[in-house]
Amino acid sequence: MLDPSSFIKESIDKIKKTIGDKKAIIALSGGVDSSVSSVLVSNAIGNNLTAVFVNHGLLREGEADYVKETFQNRLNLKYVDASNEFLDELEGVEDPEEKRKIIGEVFIRVFEREAEKIGADYLVQGTIAPDWIESDGNIKSHHNLALPHGMVLEIVEPIRELYKDEVRILGREMGLPDGIVNRQPYPGPGLAVRIVGKITRQKIEICRKTNAIVEEEVEKVGLDKTLWQYFAVLTNTKVTGVKGDMRDYGYLIVIRMVESLDAMTADVPKLPWELVKTISKRVTAEIPEVTHVALSVSDKPPSTIEFA
Ligand code: XMP
Repeated sequence: MLDPSSFIKESIDKIKKTIGDKKAIIALSGGVDSSVSSVLVSNAIGNNLTAVFVNHGLLREGEADYVKETFQNRLNLKYVDASNEFLDELEGVEDPEEKRKIIGEVFIRVFEREAEKIGADYLVQGTIAPDWIESDGNIKSHHNLALPHGMVLEIVEPIRELYKDEVRILGREMGLPDGIVNRQPYPGPGLAVRIVGKITRQKIEICRKTNAIVEEEVEKVGLDKTLWQYFAVLTNTKVTGVKGDMRDYGYLIVIRMVESLDAMTADVPKLPWELVKTISKRVTAEIPEVTHVALSVSDKPPSTIEFA
């Protein structure tokens, strides 16, 4: 059983010894793993850690402001709005794996620029136990990351032995807000894996607004406490609807809500019908580009949690 206060104390000592007065950098996403790692290392080495929060233009509604507000007084935070850089490179791309590859590459490019500016020697990562257990122990505790331009950063993984529930306990102990500690998992490539087909700025807006309605309604009825993930997917299908007396032609949205323990398998639970209807009514009333809302009822397997 994890004793959070002694874990924190021992980690801080270890990090101080490892990094000393050198500079470190971490990519902060606002997810619980990178948030806890950032605060832990910052408690050890203060402003010698720079936490870089990259806005790739595929964040959820209000996410950038929330992360900035939460961490700007706790960390040496560097906010980088690189959304145009990401979205320009994603233009016209349909294949989900290609989208992920581009986002990964642009992310490294943006992050590397920041690491060079800072003169970082260490890269802190929020790796947790399932990350390396699932990758066959591939991630070693002491390895170096060579970035494309020849920079070599020593890697520090302060929570690599912990499981998600333990990371949440640490987060609570360190005074992180509920919105961070209990945040639903959100994929690194963000809305890119929830927009089927080509990504455009208009589609991002539709997906973002729809997703915000789903999150708001799920949280209103308290189901966020039991669901693993709940979100909206913008399909590439346009369907006919009616607005007033006119036939209308708009997007088909799919709502997906799953229960899971580790994302390896997932079930769609029995959902309150009122919730589903409220979401559907709000989405079609508030987002003119959408004519139809469908509910996904497929478990994983055979489906994946994300659509792309
Ligand atoms: P799937 O869709 O494979 O997702 O059932 C399993 C879990 O992984 C998340 N996911 C990702 N996370 N980058 C990430 O950081 C990705 O490219 C990615 N794809 C899926 C997904 O949200 C779910 O929690």
